[in-house]
Amino acid sequence: VSVAVLAGGLSHERDVSLRSGRRVAEALRSSGFDVSVLDADAHLLPRLAADRPDVVWPVLHGAIGEDGALRDVLEVLGVPYVGSGPAACRLAWDKPIAQALVQAAGIAVPPSLALPQATFRDLGAQPVLAAAADWAGFPLVVKPSRGGSALGVAVVGDTRDLARAVVDAFAYGDTAVVQRFVPGTEVAVSVVEVAGELHVLPAVEVVADGGAYDYAARYTAGATEFFAPARLSPAVAERVAGAARRVHGTLGLRHLSRVDFIVPASGDPVFLEANAAPGMTETSLLPQAAAAAGIALDVLYRGIVESALR
Ligand code: DAL
Ligand code: MG
Repeated sequence: VSVAVLAGGLSHERDVSLRSGRRVAEALRSSGFDVSVLDADAHLLPRLAADRPDVVWPVLHGAIGEDGALRDVLEVLGVPYVGSGPAACRLAWDKPIAQALVQAAGIAVPPSLALPQATFRDLGAQPVLAAAADWAGFPLVVKPSRGGSALGVAVVGDTRDLARAVVDAFAYGDTAVVQRFVPGTEVAVSVVEVAGELHVLPAVEVVADGGAYDYAARYTAGATEFFAPARLSPAVAERVAGAARRVHGTLGLRHLSRVDFIVPASGDPVFLEANAAPGMTETSLLPQAAAAAGIALDVLYRGIVESALR
């Protein structure tokens, strides 16, 4: 069986994708697949058309790869691929839309306010920022409505830092989200389909050294403390796993996803976002969840590919 792993791409998370793709390719080779690694650039379509791999695994984070666009193209080519279809990717990629759907399915979400850039033009920056701060209170969280790896995300402690945080968020897209800060335990839950059967892996708890699980904390070995499995009571762990499964189903995700939550003292998980192309680097969460479950990556990734080939 031949697998084309797509890695790189044009998004802000290009470097992360190259690292993730390398790890996925290694694991697939060691489980006996014939693996090629292709960048998502102008040569991609002729290469795929000429090579006709049995299956494509887009390990592409961010725009084009994770937002559904490239998967539309794979649909047109008629080649089987690992992961969610274009429609599910679009829903998961847009945080306000994903949160609205997940909330309607009965899972808590942080109260948040989507601020399109046009709002600032039409009403003036100062009144909009003041109203947002009034509504959310401090600390609050600012993030781009679409993005990954915490790029453009900031926890803001006072009015002074708010304007800059919003400008940073706009560097990644035309809508910023202001979110009320939810205190609690940050966990990531990976959902995988192995040979057609859905499994929820143990939650992984994230304790960033400097407080914020930002880009550096994500991809610098040792910068973050992880607990895998997360330090949750069995009852809460079960609730969190059930919520992850529900999110995966509600958004129509397929084969693999990672669902991120805050677990406050009440034990009822608050949904932050779902990732259709979760990080697979040395320091990423899905591989750690697999290790906590005692599943070797080559076995897991083989099972995921088998799901895509069914
Ligand atoms: N967006 C990064 C790769 C993640 O979710 O792990
Ligand atoms: Mg993400």
